[in-house]
Amino acid sequence: MAESSLRVLLSAQQIQARIQELGQQITEDYPSGNLHLVCILKGACFFLTDLARAIRRDVRIDFMGISSYGKGKSTSGEVKVTKDLDTSVEGSDVLLVEDIVDSGVTLTYLMHVLEQRKPRSMRIVALLDKPSRRLRPVKVSYVGFEIPDEFVVGYGLDFAEKYRNLPDVCALDPPG
Ligand code: IMP
Ligand code: MG
Repeated sequence: MAESSLRVLLSAQQIQARIQELGQQITEDYPSGNLHLVCILKGACFFLTDLARAIRRDVRIDFMGISSYGKGKSTSGEVKVTKDLDTSVEGSDVLLVEDIVDSGVTLTYLMHVLEQRKPRSMRIVALLDKPSRRLRPVKVSYVGFEIPDEFVVGYGLDFAEKYRNLPDVCALDPPG
């Protein structure tokens, strides 16, 4: 069977440089208050750990498991919580840390769930944004990179659970 091929879109170095900028911006935007980083598993875990270290103030870290995709390349439209937060976000400034915003279905659902827990504020930081794919409008306050409508893997992003540990973000081209 022919193999899919990988093409580097964003190098590890580019990613790290941009994360430093995002961290600086977030540090300036949140001079006080409880900043609660909510990492959306599993794709955002690499981004979370680098971003958290680029933010020069106290943060809390928590994880939320969401599944919406199954094994395919496009959304099933169904979202479910597979792992909930360990701590309360009431009164905190929540920053949802996401790997990529595609249709917006996942984040729309998650914002709705978390708003009921009365955070003081809630914003989204996403490493990647594919605005051309949006089905639901979501405001992404901090975007690492806008990318074209291509399926990407690496730096946390997977295809059927593969490629997450690549240091670069790569487009996954079909065989042939
Ligand atoms: P949305 O609900 O369509 O915005 O989907 C967001 C989720 O879909 C992301 O958190 C990813 O897990 C996954 N996803 C969307 N686009 C890609 C991609 O190009 N590569 C890998 N995963 C993706
Ligand atoms: Mg994800």
